[in-house]
Amino acid sequence: MEEKLENIEAEAKAAIKEATDLDGLEELRVKYLGKKGQVTEILQGIGDLEPEQRPVVGKLGNQIKSRLEALIEDKEEELKELLKQKKLEEEQIDVTLPGVKEGYGYQHPLTQTLAEIKEVFLGLGFSIAEGPEVEKDYYNFEALNIPKTHPARDMQDSFYISADILLRTHTSPVQIRTMKQSEVPIRIIAPGRVYRVDEVDANHSPVFHQVEGLMVGQDISFSQLKGILIEFAQEMFGADREVRFRPSYFPFTEPSAEVDVSCIVCAGEGCRVCSQTGWLEILGSGMVHPRVLEMSGLDPQEVSGFAFGMGVERIAMLKYGITDIRLFYENDMRFLEQF
Ligand code: DAH
Repeated sequence: MEEKLENIEAEAKAAIKEATDLDGLEELRVKYLGKKGQVTEILQGIGDLEPEQRPVVGKLGNQIKSRLEALIEDKEEELKELLKQKKLEEEQIDVTLPGVKEGYGYQHPLTQTLAEIKEVFLGLGFSIAEGPEVEKDYYNFEALNIPKTHPARDMQDSFYISADILLRTHTSPVQIRTMKQSEVPIRIIAPGRVYRVDEVDANHSPVFHQVEGLMVGQDISFSQLKGILIEFAQEMFGADREVRFRPSYFPFTEPSAEVDVSCIVCAGEGCRVCSQTGWLEILGSGMVHPRVLEMSGLDPQEVSGFAFGMGVERIAMLKYGITDIRLFYENDMRFLEQF
């Protein structure tokens, strides 16, 4: 029996020494010292031995038990330490690695352009007005003196929702709504989305943005229109830009003018951007037509006004030299990051 115990001890010692992880070590503890472990069973069987054998085997068995317990404890410490080292090594941070840079957010170029337009006009005493995108035919066309036969009123050019309701094709209906609702004098701009039945190409989008302007009061004259719009054009495109007013036609203004600035690329020499003309058209404008004043409940004998309208995409394209309107809507970060 003593020999058996000594063999068990030798075998257990070797196995403990070889153990490579805590689970394996625990298995060994159970195997030798657990309730049904080999050493435990011998100690429990002592009663069956010869009387003179019992103290000898009992003593040896208990000595082996505590030696093995001590060995297992030491090994456990050793394995835990190893585990800790390994974990530390794995979690080591290399402070010499370059950092990961957080990306910035950017304001969309149309948002920036609109903000600039607003800033100029707010500085000139204008305030912001709004109107619905789903608009009555009456406000979009009729009250703006646009005749029934005008091509814009065609189903092929405007998105109709019903016979007399459509998606507004311009921000000009806000003129009518404002004149009906407010007291004169009026000095507003009305930014917003507009809709037209257009195929998408480099210069067209079925949805785009306009800013309308309206100034109504006593003795508002064409020279005030010129003063305000020259100020706007030069703040927007540079103080050294020349501004010219070209006679034009809109049903809701009389007289009407389109406003050009000298080309921002060639300064008037003639280049591809300005189609060799030296000029870039930036907006339409004119003195509010007396019929439009009347339909908005104002007396053309007492008040007069001017109006203007511009495309935000167009202004941004001219200002930044962008040649394709689709870039505004694709949200390609390589484009947006440049502004
Ligand atoms: N509504 C016109 C358009 O969409 C732009 C315009 C021209 C607005 C002249 C005006 C104006 O207020 O006076 O093409």
